[in-house]
Amino acid sequence: MKHNITLIPGDGIGPEIVAATVRVIEATGVDIEWETHILGAQAQEKYGTTLPESTTDSIKRNKVALKGPQMTPVGKGFTSVNVGLRKALDLYANVRPVKALPNVPCRYPELDLVIVRENTEDLYAGLEHVVIPGVVESIKIITEKASTRIAKYAFEYSRLNNRKKVTAVHKANIMKLSDGLFLECFYNVSKDYPEIEADDKIIDNCCMQLVMRPEQFDVLVLENLYGDIVSDLCAGLIGGLGLAPGANIGELGAVFEAVHGSAPDIAGQGIANPTALMLSAIQMLHHIGEKDAGNRFNDALLAVFADGKTITKDLGGTAKTNEFARAIVEKIEQGAGRAA
Ligand code: NAI
Repeated sequence: MKHNITLIPGDGIGPEIVAATVRVIEATGVDIEWETHILGAQAQEKYGTTLPESTTDSIKRNKVALKGPQMTPVGKGFTSVNVGLRKALDLYANVRPVKALPNVPCRYPELDLVIVRENTEDLYAGLEHVVIPGVVESIKIITEKASTRIAKYAFEYSRLNNRKKVTAVHKANIMKLSDGLFLECFYNVSKDYPEIEADDKIIDNCCMQLVMRPEQFDVLVLENLYGDIVSDLCAGLIGGLGLAPGANIGELGAVFEAVHGSAPDIAGQGIANPTALMLSAIQMLHHIGEKDAGNRFNDALLAVFADGKTITKDLGGTAKTNEFARAIVEKIEQGAGRAA
């Protein structure tokens, strides 16, 4: 079956890791017609807007996109197109699996947990204004609708993927109304899933527990900002940002992207680690029903890590992005690890 998929190369290291990932996807033999589109600063220059309709329309039509990271200026300039895209397509669930890979030096080689981050509201609503000079107000929006929807997603995901426990992470001791509502919705939804354990942790304690005893967690469900921060923390537990994949899921479509950003410090050098985007692409192949191709891609990736010879610089190796991709393609051609 032929699939139409929107491809957004992104900024910085984006085009390098996207090219490497597309190369491996094509080696699996899946029939994909890529529709390449742009966002952010590139789109501003070409179309006069950072979030062009041609890009959002393409994703709505195809229902699936593979996306490289987009740069957002700090403290000034345009607002985040990542946030804009998630809002425009109502991609409300950000799913970020955290699983160690073979041979990657990390604190918790056995770790296997999943972060489900609410993607559409919280402080990311971008409602900021100057009250009087020197005083700024930033408004945190939490709704019953979005909190219930993300809790349901986390429990449904757990049921489908045979996960045993969902933990809601919050600061409801201080933000009694907003985080209190998030927590209340979570426990209301949990009643429909009696086979899955439901508990909660205050965010600060949760961070310490994640660093000291992460094996106690299975699926975590968080508001937008906590989810953003805790995902980077968890990426650190399994070897770094180069290894953390993600998917943004909604009714209108799904956008697959790495947790990390455009890494301007290493852009253009051909040394970026494409693993996080590749793991996102494997999630994407499963999402579009190409399970066999996804499994072959995954097996080949794991085989390259197990060999330990072709490793990128961030993990202590010397392989370039394209050498890493070539090693995976070779494993696919050799039919590596067909067991899964
Ligand atoms: P970053 O994630 O781009 O980089 C943090 C550090 O990790 C850097 O030292 C970088 O070299 C390294 N790193 C990241 N990905 C890597 C990879 N694949 N291989 C090897 N090393 C890697 O975070 P930073 O510097 O805070 O953000 C840079 C830009 O990215 C900003 O404009 C930010 O807004 C944007 N960003 C975009 C995201 C997206 O499009 N989803 C997500 C996060 C940030």
